[in-house]
Amino acid sequence: MIGVLFVCLGNICRSPMAEGVFAHLVKEAGLDNVIYTDSAGTGGWHVGESPHSGTQRVLREHGIAYHGRARQLTASDLSEFNYVLAMDRSNLSGIRRLARKDTRAEIALFLSYAYNKGLADVEEVPDPYYDGRFNYVYELVHTGSQALLDHIRQAHNL
Ligand code: 4NP
Repeated sequence: MIGVLFVCLGNICRSPMAEGVFAHLVKEAGLDNVIYTDSAGTGGWHVGESPHSGTQRVLREHGIAYHGRARQLTASDLSEFNYVLAMDRSNLSGIRRLARKDTRAEIALFLSYAYNKGLADVEEVPDPYYDGRFNYVYELVHTGSQALLDHIRQAHNL
């Protein structure tokens, strides 16, 4: 199995949205027996909580079910998951702080795959917790998830 972990700060806005959207695309592609997903936050303030109401609304509007609860990123995530994807550069630093020399996970900005293909004009997903732009974040996350799935399919001949 190929494990894909989405990481933001609180694990209630961006990373659960990315997890939900990406898992939905994986299922549509018939790859849910090959690729599994999860999400986590670099911070622990919201552990155990359901996603923010804005993320729940956007997922619901796009017919995507989500049942995850917030949890904090751990060092063992970096040995378990093949891909550990940060929503912004601050999250990326938080992930790298937990990495050891033998960490084999591909650690990257989630949007880097879309950005490198010219499909997104930003490389970071802005935090809707502060400005409420959940619809804009959904568009970025959807584009990012499609490019990420293309990348993984190519890398693993899927
Ligand atoms: P997220 O958004 O990282 O996309 O889940 C945030 C959620 C909560 C906080 C910050 C960002 N907070 O400071 O509590």
